[in-house]
Amino acid sequence: MKNFTLTTTIAAVALALGIAGVAQAQYTPGAGLAASPHDFSSAVANTETVGLCTFCHTPHRAISTRLIWNHKLSSNNYTWDETTTMGGTDLPTNIQTWVGPTRACLSCHDGSVAIGDVAWFNKAGPTVINATKHENDAVTVGAGGDMSGNHPVAVPIPFGNTGGETYNNITTGDDVVMEWVADPTTNGIRLFRDSGDGSAIAGPEEGNAGIECSSCHDPHNASTVQGPYLLRGELDGSTGGASGYICLKCHAK
Ligand code: HEC
Ligand code: HEC
Ligand code: HEC
Ligand code: HEC
Repeated sequence: MKNFTLTTTIAAVALALGIAGVAQAQYTPGAGLAASPHDFSSAVANTETVGLCTFCHTPHRAISTRLIWNHKLSSNNYTWDETTTMGGTDLPTNIQTWVGPTRACLSCHDGSVAIGDVAWFNKAGPTVINATKHENDAVTVGAGGDMSGNHPVAVPIPFGNTGGETYNNITTGDDVVMEWVADPTTNGIRLFRDSGDGSAIAGPEEGNAGIECSSCHDPHNASTVQGPYLLRGELDGSTGGASGYICLKCHAK
């Protein structure tokens, strides 16, 4: 009887938390958005039923044409506690205005904006469909705009294993060790280039290549996802080598 009460209590708490309840559901890496942690279509705390894509994209009246982005952006200014990487590459200070996937991810993950604060759905908006925020929970990244301790993003990658790349107005530092997989996209990694107007577009070029949050994670849990956390690689590297371990997909170490 005691056990029964406990189970009921846990279920009630999970229900009350709504979105957090989704995290406990099992999902298969690479099997698509539905039933993944980014499937908000039936999150309990939603005040209405929404489409599978709604929390991130909308076909009309989006916040930006690029990505037809639907989720309210954060007003945080992102900074690191350092100004450069060890090799001398500047860390970005313009993620808030740099039109790339990273600011899209941080619009939910920095914890400052409600998960379901969208521009447009079902002929209505702006509207807050789900008021949960990510403040101080296990999936918060960049709380309050503080990116300290996070792997660099919105920075150049030495594509072709040569230095001198420029991306997001940042050039790879002279002292970055040239031990890179020449073309990480062959390992399922997604890379970007600077389109020259303050934004990122997919597809690297020699001299113009960069990484974003979505280089390592696929928000859609589509075919390149091999591991947990929507990773485009494995967390433990059980397959071995650059076709498995996420870190070896870019770093030739
Ligand atoms: C609309 C808000 C929203 C956006 C935009 C968003 N996320 Fe998430 N993300 C969430 C929520 C909410 C969870 C936690 C879901 C849960 O606990 O069930 C989550 C979970 C995750 C997880 C953990 C997955 C797991 O297996 O536990 C990762 C990794 C992640 N997101 C990365 C990203 C990246 C990278 C981007 C951008 C490419 C992104 N997210 C964009 C809301 C968002
Ligand atoms: C949790 C947020 C989130 C959800 C939900 C989401 N997307 Fe995305 N989507 C993103 C982000 C962030 C990007 C840009 C990242 C990237 O491609 O590197 C993106 C990029 C895209 C792109 C352009 C790049 C590509 O992969 O072709 C398409 C198309 C797309 N999404 C379609 C969809 C569709 C269709 C759905 C619903 C079935 C959906 N997305 C649901 C976050 C999301
Ligand atoms: C260089 C690859 C890489 C990049 C870039 C990257 N991540 Fe991650 N991320 C990982 C790995 C690996 C994990 C698993 C770490 C762990 O928990 O051991 C992870 C875990 C996560 C998690 C799960 C919770 C946690 O903190 O472990 C979230 C949420 C997340 N990342 C979001 C993001 C966001 C948002 C960005 C962009 C600001 C980003 N990631 C950029 C590799 C990356
Ligand atoms: C998508 C490609 C990519 C992946 C995957 C990746 N990295 Fe990186 N990593 C980079 C880039 C680009 C830099 C910036 C190099 C520079 O210019 O200093 C970097 C920098 C670093 C640095 C140096 C940071 C500093 O301040 O000097 C370390 C350490 C590192 N990565 C470790 C990892 C680990 C551990 C993983 C796996 C969890 C990983 N990386 C996955 C691309 C990647």
